[in-house]
Amino acid sequence: MAQILDGADFRAIEVATAALQAGEVVAFPTETVYGLGADALNERAVAEVFAIKNRPRFDPLIVHLADQQAAPQYAAVIDERAAALMKRFWPGPLTLVLRKRLLIPDLVTAGLDTVALRVPAHPVALALLRAVGRPIAAPSANPFGYVSPTAALHVQEMLGDAIRLILNGGPCTVGIESTVCALTEAEVVVLRPGGVTVEEIEAVIGPVTIAASLQADPRSPGTLPRHYSPHVLLTLLAPGEPIPRPDKGRRVGLLTLAPRPDVVEFFAVETLSEDGNLLEAATNLFAALRRLDGLGLERVVVESMPEYGIGRAIMDRLRRAATRG
Ligand code: TXA
Ligand code: MG
Repeated sequence: MAQILDGADFRAIEVATAALQAGEVVAFPTETVYGLGADALNERAVAEVFAIKNRPRFDPLIVHLADQQAAPQYAAVIDERAAALMKRFWPGPLTLVLRKRLLIPDLVTAGLDTVALRVPAHPVALALLRAVGRPIAAPSANPFGYVSPTAALHVQEMLGDAIRLILNGGPCTVGIESTVCALTEAEVVVLRPGGVTVEEIEAVIGPVTIAASLQADPRSPGTLPRHYSPHVLLTLLAPGEPIPRPDKGRRVGLLTLAPRPDVVEFFAVETLSEDGNLLEAATNLFAALRRLDGLGLERVVVESMPEYGIGRAIMDRLRRAATRG
């Protein structure tokens, strides 16, 4: 079992800082999901992150910074678009892929000549980053391919035997990972929809391209068709498709955006938002999938969500979670 320390306590930050500086791996909260952190400049520590997650080494990690001022130390080029996005969305759930500087180890970036940078908007993450004084490489703190953790206990359940320390920062408020946005070409490409919406990005820098949701995009090695998946089989309904009534006695679950008083005979129902609010739905999504996954169900029927704003990120996760094989 890992020790869970209250991240609001400065002594916990000190303990975590010492561990990271000694090359250990520490789980910590961000506003999106919990991260599994290591000193980004310590290749051995980063290798440990890949090993604990069972993550393939072709999938690069996001490097977390304490503030925008640190970015030029690690990114070789920060053009006007990048500067505008940093100014508007950092700290926050936006990751920028930029040309990297050589001091970032190849292991962090999976040998790419780019690095993904983000300043998280969580007081515990920021306190840790400031105290460590180094960039922290961190993927989501889950075994590769499984649902991301949005609470300290999720990390404990999945990785508690593999790590020594989890900083607790309460439930994640955004609940879905950061938007990954590549700024290395003339066209801006959103590689992964996330906490900052495409609409919000376009309001700052104009039109962007969105990488196809279910293709493994060569520009983002981590965008595998199957990801974020619970063990239970998910059946994602088409938009507007009526909810099928399960056969009597079958253990079938249902995941809906808003309450559906008309549905019956489901073994378990998870509703993401009482009033159909997509932001609230994103916050609750992974915990709901995790609860449904613990019930030994035959399958879970999942309602389609509207695909605008953060709904785009929710649907991206649901499509991947529902992909088999
Ligand atoms: O919200 C988040 O982004 C969370 C918290 C902990 O910050 N982190 C997270 O990390 O979701 P991870 O490793 O689960 O996802 C990182 C994504 C992957 O899809 C990866 O392929 C992509 O970012 N990525 C990282 N570096 C990249 C690079 N240089 N070029 C393209 N994609 C990159
Ligand atoms: Mg992940």
